[in-house]
Parts: sequence; structure tokens; C-alpha cells
Amino acid sequence: MVRKLIAGNWKMNGSVSFASELVGGLLSKIEQQDVSADFVVCPPAALLGSVLSLAKGTKLSVGGQDCHANVSGAHTGDTSAELLKDIGCGYVLTGHSERRTDHGETDSDVKAKSTAALKAGLTPIICIGETEGERVSGNTLKVIEQQVTNSLPDDADSSAIVLAYEPVWAIGTGKTATPDDVAEVHNFIRELLVSRFGREAANKINILYGGSVKPSNAAELLAVSNVDGALVGGASLKVEDFWAIGVR
Ligand code: 13P
Repeated sequence: MVRKLIAGNWKMNGSVSFASELVGGLLSKIEQQDVSADFVVCPPAALLGSVLSLAKGTKLSVGGQDCHANVSGAHTGDTSAELLKDIGCGYVLTGHSERRTDHGETDSDVKAKSTAALKAGLTPIICIGETEGERVSGNTLKVIEQQVTNSLPDDADSSAIVLAYEPVWAIGTGKTATPDDVAEVHNFIRELLVSRFGREAANKINILYGGSVKPSNAAELLAVSNVDGALVGGASLKVEDFWAIGVR
């Protein structure tokens, strides 16, 4: 069993004062206890500097929500993985469904970004998940297999990647997959990783579940086999809720 990873994706929410309150509250808990999970927060790019200065030297890790595949160049508005690493990030989300939908990111874009992240020394949290239509039509595992096969870097170091299974229909909707649904997909992802990296290495990769995770369902979801943590949206914006998801 790997140590659980609890990641908070703030999406496009927050402000300087919000960040200082939330990170301050989280740190007062994390630093006081010997917690059994690792915590990461992924604020919007404009808040990374504030959050990194608050989290510096603490057990709280910080991640970006996206990165560009190139190291530098004429890409207005984008941030390279190298720069995220340089300012102190440890992680970056790649392929979040909102990036795939809002910005048309394909598996090959996600692969290029994840490759750039690894090269820069960041751990990419590579997001995958089926839409409601894909689930209803019985294509969930097919979609997951395609996404895992096509979004992971070719030369991925298994010790430096995290996967996040987020069924698109469960994101921000209050609907969560049942523990049986989650087990089916997470076991399937684990076996895909085993065929790629071998059992020992694959067993050490964190596979997170995301989609309407909250304190009231976290214990049940985190107890499912092959669920090694959570990627939390809305509930990561409240100290008590985010904390309660990771520590009980
Ligand atoms: P919610 O927890 O708000 O459903 O968001 C999940 C998510 O997209 C995290 O990346």
C-alpha cells in the first residue's frame, strides 16, 4: 500500500487573502500532527507565488494546474513545467477534463505536457475519466485504456507519476461513482500499469479518485481497493473539509 495523496484543485477560485487563510489553516493542522497522508494544493497560476511562500519549508506541497509542453518560447499566457519547478512546485495536473473540454486538449497534448513535467523534475498528476455518454454506452474501460495508453509519457519513470481517475459526470455535480464502479476502474488502471511497468513498480503508483469527493463520502471511497488518494475540487476550498477528507 502506498501512502495516500490528497490533492486539492482550486480551479479558477481564490484570491491572495483566501490563499493565506486556507493555507494558514491547513498548515496549522499539518504541522501539528503526524499525518498519514501527503497533501498538495494546486492553486491558480497567479496565486502560486503566494501559496509557495506560505508553504515553503512545510509538509504541504504545491502544484500547478497545467503546464506547456515546451520549455520556453512564444506561448502567451502559458507556463512551462521548468518554471513551475523553478518557483518551487512539486506537482502539476495534466489532462484535467476541464482542460480537455475548455482548451481541446487531446491525449497527445497531455502526453507532451506530462513528458515536459517529468523532464523538469515535477510529478505530473495525469487525469483521465469517461464522460456520462461514454459510461452509459458501456465504453468506460475502453476510454480509460485509450487515455492511459496515449496520455502517459513513453519513457515515464513509474516512481514519478500519479494518475487521477475523475469520471467527468461526477465532477462538480454532487454525483459520485459507487464504490463498485470506482473499484472496477481503479483495478483496471492498476492492471494497465502492471502490464507497462511490472507489478512491483505499478503497485507503487498513486491512483487518485476525483469527482464530488467530500468528508461524508471520503472514507468509503478511500477504502476502495487501488484508491490511493483523492483529487478534490470544491471541498478543497474549505480547510475543515479538505482536512477531513485526508485525515480521520
Ligand atoms: P469536485 O470535487 O468539485 O467535483 O471537482 C473534482 C475535480 O475536478 C478535481 O480536479
